[in-house]
Amino acid sequence: MSLKFKKILIGVCGGIAAYKSAHLIRLFKKQGAEVQVIMTPESTAFISPLTLSTLSEKPVLIHFQKKTEGEWNNHVALGLWADVMIIAPATAHTLGKMANGIADNLLTAVYFSARCPVFFAPAMDLDMLIHPSVKRNIEYLQSIGNYLIDAEVGELASGLYGKGRMAEPEHIIQTIEKFFCPYRPLEGKKVMITLGATREYLDPVRYITNASSGKMGFALAEHAHNLGAEVFAIVGSVSSQTSNSQIHQIHVKTALEMFEKSRELFSLMDYAIFCAAVADYRPKTVHSQKMKKSSETVTLELIKNPDIAQELSKFKKEHQITVGFALETEQALENARLKRIRKHLDIIVMNSIENPQSTFEYDTNQVVVITPTQEISLPLKSKKEIAQDIWKIILSFEKEKSSQRHESL
Ligand code: C5P
Repeated sequence: MSLKFKKILIGVCGGIAAYKSAHLIRLFKKQGAEVQVIMTPESTAFISPLTLSTLSEKPVLIHFQKKTEGEWNNHVALGLWADVMIIAPATAHTLGKMANGIADNLLTAVYFSARCPVFFAPAMDLDMLIHPSVKRNIEYLQSIGNYLIDAEVGELASGLYGKGRMAEPEHIIQTIEKFFCPYRPLEGKKVMITLGATREYLDPVRYITNASSGKMGFALAEHAHNLGAEVFAIVGSVSSQTSNSQIHQIHVKTALEMFEKSRELFSLMDYAIFCAAVADYRPKTVHSQKMKKSSETVTLELIKNPDIAQELSKFKKEHQITVGFALETEQALENARLKRIRKHLDIIVMNSIENPQSTFEYDTNQVVVITPTQEISLPLKSKKEIAQDIWKIILSFEKEKSSQRHESL
């Protein structure tokens, strides 16, 4: 994940938009980043340091001097610690100090000490934002290498309408992600990924399922997001999770539910990856009450579930790319090749079960990726690395497909 373990300094200034910093911190934390908040003394009137220290899981820093006599917050060390500094909201007052070398509080002193990239998200009333002095400061700060995350147009706290609202936290996060991961071939694209196991209920408490963990699917979803896509994960029963809150998760239980949700989304997608371990059959009868223990043996009658990958591929449009998975125990390669054709998939990823560390619950996998023109064998590696390789193959397949289309025109 692009922001995992990244060290983020968030500077909060005294404006009403300071309330949005709570959400911004939350989003960074959800992505696995380490967040240190520095507040100007004025900003504490708008949002409580306790709120921001709770969300960032670190004491918020406000003054040079710590509460304990003789101890101080080392602005130089803080400036060097960060991978990125974001001043949000940035008021006209603080921007003025940043542009003019005035280090009269901890936040500005850290700013002048920071060697990392600095982003600033102005928030102020519309007339302040277009005042020639403020405009000059913003332009000057950009000219010396700071990055502007521009204010948005909308209702302002003054009751006026215009440009001056702080950029939404989601937009700020995306800007920072783009900065760290500039290679974004999936920007503007939509990706659907089915993942996890389905549960096929016999009665309200019992079901047939399998041991799929969802790890491979989440790794594919996270990497698609890193490459710029909007990702929709249709999540069955899983024992893993993603901390990336930008991935839309649609939770389902049964194969029929997974089919329904996938069908709703499929036509809007550019890519569909069928990674779920869908039960092939479901009990014909689902008892409304818990089944009683009576006879020595019980026979279950099972009926076939729809094959989601196969059914949806029938509606596949020219630009869409579909990818399936195949876990085979006999004549693996041959069966996987046939499955790709039978299910009208562009690509199929064959899970090798020869290596014991390549099954459901492991963090590693060993696969062969089968496209119409190639069979690429990937050695045992982490599911995250396999996900990166699979996306690389999908993108080069897409390139090949579009160049063939151009040649035939
Ligand atoms: O036929 P088999 O279950 O081996 O096929 C595996 C592939 O088909 C996987 O991509 C899986 O997600 C998909 N599949 C499906 N719906 C089913 C069964 C499998 O989408 N009912």
